[in-house]
Amino acid sequence: MAGLLLLLAAALSACTNPQTTFSPKSDTAQSIQTLYLLVIVMASIVMVGVFGVLGFALFRFRDRPGRVASQTHGNTKLEIIWTLLPVAILVIIGAPALIAVAGSAKAPDEDALHINVVGHQWWFEVQYPGMGPEDPNNPGERLPLITANEVHLPIGRQIYVTLESVDVIHSFWIPQLIGKTDMIPGTVNELQTFTPQEVGAFYGQCAEFCGTAHAQMRFRAVVESLGDFNEWAEALQTAPADPASELAAAGQTLFLAKGCVACHTIYGMPGAAGKLGPDLTLLGDRRTIGAGIVDNTDENLQQWIRDLQQMKPGTLHMPSFGTLPVENPQHMSDAEIRAVSAFLRGMTLE
Ligand code: CUA
Repeated sequence: MAGLLLLLAAALSACTNPQTTFSPKSDTAQSIQTLYLLVIVMASIVMVGVFGVLGFALFRFRDRPGRVASQTHGNTKLEIIWTLLPVAILVIIGAPALIAVAGSAKAPDEDALHINVVGHQWWFEVQYPGMGPEDPNNPGERLPLITANEVHLPIGRQIYVTLESVDVIHSFWIPQLIGKTDMIPGTVNELQTFTPQEVGAFYGQCAEFCGTAHAQMRFRAVVESLGDFNEWAEALQTAPADPASELAAAGQTLFLAKGCVACHTIYGMPGAAGKLGPDLTLLGDRRTIGAGIVDNTDENLQQWIRDLQQMKPGTLHMPSFGTLPVENPQHMSDAEIRAVSAFLRGMTLE
């Protein structure tokens, strides 16, 4: 009984898992799912068949008083059947699997949207080559459009992702959209192409152990209409409006004064061009902070700035500003943290 309850609990614990692969939302994820179900069905047939015959033999030929087991040697018909049957099963599973594997190596369509994702300990840098502002050093050429921890994807368009890493091996995975592929330093990997088929925000996760905060290295894939996607891409390369409140304006000043700009870029804000940490342009529109780990709310962002080591132990480079000694010039009071949070979350599309 206890065993059954434990099994039930294990099964139910999977019910609300947002990282399920069982509800595919792209053409490629769907084909993986179809293959998976085929294998499960075939494996189930084999299991029922083998255990059925075994059970039957155990019962039918059990030891009974006065009976002597008949002695046989060899059965050609049986030998042929149990050779051909597994061959047939393997062909049924193998043929579609080989076709799917061959398809996974197909070159992307010409009009596929190219995205380059770079792994960092422990967050994702997202680049859209050729979609950003004009390159001042190279007139006529466009820089990549850059964001972090949120991959925007237009629905119905084929997506072609290349993967890199600046430090250790990470792995890029959006369970409902596409299988995982490693991000390896010094090399460029290609993710199998896929076409998103449903609007929504889907969970992504680093799937290769990469250090202390590996489990907290997440992101969101945001699938949206082409109109919304274009609007977002346009807003990312438009200089931000002046802060809407006094508090946010004070936050902008602090963002410079406390050295945040040494690591973070905000497009269009003079002096804010740091590259060590995630780009924060339009942060107010992101669904999460801390690389996909908590909702983007005032409370969470303030807590992040105050003491991020408590929210995401092991985070590199960024100080917990609220816990620094008061005499440290980078220390921030609660009031200052509120201001910086108001400034960052005030940067939105509208
Ligand atoms: Cu990056 Cu695990």
